[in-house]
Amino acid sequence: MPPLRAIVFDAYGTLFDVHSVIALCEQLWPGKGAALSQLWRSKQLEYTWQRSLMRRYEDFARVTEAALRYACAALGLPVDEERRRSLMGAYLKLAIFPEVRDVLAALRESKLKLAILSNGSPAMLRPLVANAGLGSQIRTIISVDARKIYKPAPAVYRLAVERLGAPKTAIGFVSSNCWDACGAKSFGFRTFWINRTGAPVDELGAMPDHVIGSLGELPALIRRPLS
Ligand code: LAC
Repeated sequence: MPPLRAIVFDAYGTLFDVHSVIALCEQLWPGKGAALSQLWRSKQLEYTWQRSLMRRYEDFARVTEAALRYACAALGLPVDEERRRSLMGAYLKLAIFPEVRDVLAALRESKLKLAILSNGSPAMLRPLVANAGLGSQIRTIISVDARKIYKPAPAVYRLAVERLGAPKTAIGFVSSNCWDACGAKSFGFRTFWINRTGAPVDELGAMPDHVIGSLGELPALIRRPLS
């Protein structure tokens, strides 16, 4: 096994907390914030898989907005243009998980190249990373948009190999979305599933190599020779 040369992170749910929109949802519809955020996120992901199977790609901003419309309709929440715009705006300013900054700094000290590989469109990812002040730590931002299909299609993970110029066995892929870690493992990356909620592993025929409870455990694990 060659040593790792690069660490590639999933964005939404892994570095950025998609449920940080709950505060605004709650402000707009008191008592419904958590339910709206949950349904919005799960529909957003479902639409990426469904559109990939239908060969009807549209970018992640449009998918995210469609999922928002669906979630509001399903929960009986009236959404006008102003509310829609402010919720979509919140998606560009998601909070990062508290340990992210220190973890990225530690990994950079280990001379690892850091990248993001995400379903997000470039127009969503660039402001997201900039607003969180992570631009100097993660300079390589790769969007599935270049392949017009969503994770976990192998073509998407291959983008990281091409952009980083490293063999897949020298790339560590980190995601809190288990299905994404399984997809990356199936492609051939060394994978780290961040299992923040103690969920069972997805039964997709490709188990993540490492399961850890928080991103904070990553630097020590990577510094140790990985078997
Ligand atoms: C992403 C989704 C999977 O950032 O969270 O690609």
